[in-house]
Parts: sequence; C-alpha cells; structure tokens
Amino acid sequence: MLALGCDHGGYELMQEIIKYLDKKNIPYKNFGTHGTDSVDYPIYAKKVTTSIQDGCCDLGLLICGTGIGISVAANKENGIICALCTNTFMAKATKEHNNANILALGGRVTSTADAINIFETFYNTPFSNEKRHINRINLFNS
Ligand code: RB5
Repeated sequence: MLALGCDHGGYELMQEIIKYLDKKNIPYKNFGTHGTDSVDYPIYAKKVTTSIQDGCCDLGLLICGTGIGISVAANKENGIICALCTNTFMAKATKEHNNANILALGGRVTSTADAINIFETFYNTPFSNEKRHINRINLFNS
C-alpha cells in the first residue's frame, strides 16, 4: 500500500498524481494535507513514515515545495530511506541501489508530466538485491 503526504507547496502536484493513481487503480492512503493552507511539512512526513513503520503501508510519496524539507524530515525516522528525485534515472537508481521506500518530489520544481514519469519508474522498479547494495544499506545505521 502506498502512503501519500504533502504540504501546501506539494498539494497541487499531489492532486495530479492522485488522478493518475485513480486512473491506474493503484491503491493508496492519503494522509494529507487536504488544501492549500500553510502547514508544517514534518507533520505529514511523520504520518507517512509511521504508516510504513507500523506495516500499514510499504511505500510512500511525499511532496513539499522543493522536496527537500519533507525528505530530510522523513529520513530522520528508523527504517526509512526517502529519496528526492528530479528525473527517472534517479528514481530507477534509488530503488535498485538504495531500496528507497519513499519517493520525495518538489511541487515547485518538477512538472506534472515529469513527476508522473518519476513516480511510475520508482513504483515499478524493484530493488536489485545485490550484495554490494545490501552491504551499503546496512551501513546506513551502523
Ligand atoms: C513551504 O513554503 C516550503 O518551505 C516547503 O514546501 C518545502 O519546500 C520545504 O523544504
């Protein structure tokens, strides 16, 4: 299950991604925000990371204005590997190499068309399961 979270800077792009998810019948849980009023992005990062930590979701999408604040906040949490991506090469590499469980996007940085391509690549690329990548990921928390 995919967990969605955004702040006001990511709200509009998130609505476009939700249209895409609905069209493709991709299931998700939307943790908000649910409008354009100014909110604090760490709160929405935490809702999504908690849903992954407790097993209710296994992947996440976080969007703020730049993607920076919300990805930094998410990466403070245990078991979370959140990757801010601006192109499909990064989205593919972060699944194959880093086994990222959250994609972060910048609503004021990335176009809707690019964001959908980046999301699609992230969602459809599996972890490589290669030993060298597993070793490196294990070093994150050592
Ligand atoms: C909100 O104005 C903005 O700071 C936020 O969306 C994000 O870009 C933070 O990194």
